[in-house]
Amino acid sequence: MNAPLTRSLDARYYTDPAIYANEMDGVLTRTWQFACHEGQIPNFGDYHCFEVAGQNLFAIRGKDGQVRTFYNVCQHRAHELLEGDGNARLVVCPYHQWTYEVTGKLRGGPNIRNVPGFDVSDVCLTEVRTEDFLGYLFVNLDDDAAPMDEWFPNVRAEIAEYVPQIAQLAPLEWVEIPESCNWKCSVENYSECYHCPTNHQTFAQGVIKPETYDIQPDANGGYVLRHVTECQSLDKMTYPIDLSVPHAGDYQSWFLWPMFSFQCYPGNVLNTYHWRVHSVDRCTVWRGWYSVDGAEDEVIRQLAVQDRETTVEEDIHLVESVQRGLRSKGYRPGPLVLDPANGVMSEHSIARLHQWMRDAVDG
Ligand code: FES
Ligand SMILES: [Fe+2]
Repeated sequence: MNAPLTRSLDARYYTDPAIYANEMDGVLTRTWQFACHEGQIPNFGDYHCFEVAGQNLFAIRGKDGQVRTFYNVCQHRAHELLEGDGNARLVVCPYHQWTYEVTGKLRGGPNIRNVPGFDVSDVCLTEVRTEDFLGYLFVNLDDDAAPMDEWFPNVRAEIAEYVPQIAQLAPLEWVEIPESCNWKCSVENYSECYHCPTNHQTFAQGVIKPETYDIQPDANGGYVLRHVTECQSLDKMTYPIDLSVPHAGDYQSWFLWPMFSFQCYPGNVLNTYHWRVHSVDRCTVWRGWYSVDGAEDEVIRQLAVQDRETTVEEDIHLVESVQRGLRSKGYRPGPLVLDPANGVMSEHSIARLHQWMRDAVDG
């Protein structure tokens, strides 16, 4: 007797605004979300604004070197405090000029000392949990969330092994990719390579060997999917690598549920994916490319362009077509291709993702 087939998620998970609202209030507020790289805010007062689960936040570096993250809202009458990226050694609200220290403490405001009973030390910006993960700053809107090392056991040590230069890296290039699809379509597309041999010719022939590709839940447990493959034969590689460096011939990636991935291309080239969610059927994928100290690096620039023009472009069409298909009255969720031998033509990783996605919404 065969085990029952594992079916794909119902279409409503990708199209129903009520499920989207549930995720915004639930899973996306209780998981670790990428804020920015340390190298984007190196100096006292440097800040970066960003959005997580519909909440406007900013990360800012203190005089003590520590980065703190706050909800981007004045405690007076709710004007937003900062925009974009910049430097502010004091945070001044544009509305009535209340002024905050970069530690979040209210320092003063016009005429507030004449208010009987008003103690500035009672007012403070609302801080958000922030963790530094190998130079990558993550936040969690849940104050009680387990630390990242519990969510993603051993990942720090593994990445440091494959990317020994990680502590010196800084962003060289960001590639922004708006997609008209639910964030889960995009994350799923990233998380299987069953579609690679036919849809990603450059990646499958010029970067990796598809027959060696596998994606599995991490053996260390936790909410991690590990992609593992070998690099393409050197004569077919689209860029040069030095195989005398340990792990230079490997391709690895660590997908950290729900929307971040560290990816190490052959040649120990670190790059990242992170997703930002805008609505039930719109999200943005960000690709990050890094070099030592953010210094100019022609190979990495070229890789970023090659990736944008091939893998990324090819994926946009796939995920947007899937989103349209999910609205079809004719779609019945099909069985996942779970080959007991695993490998590139199996969808084990999708089964795991679907389990996390169902758990997140249905408890
Ligand atoms: S809302 Fe910020 S000072 Fe009034
Ligand atoms: Fe893809």
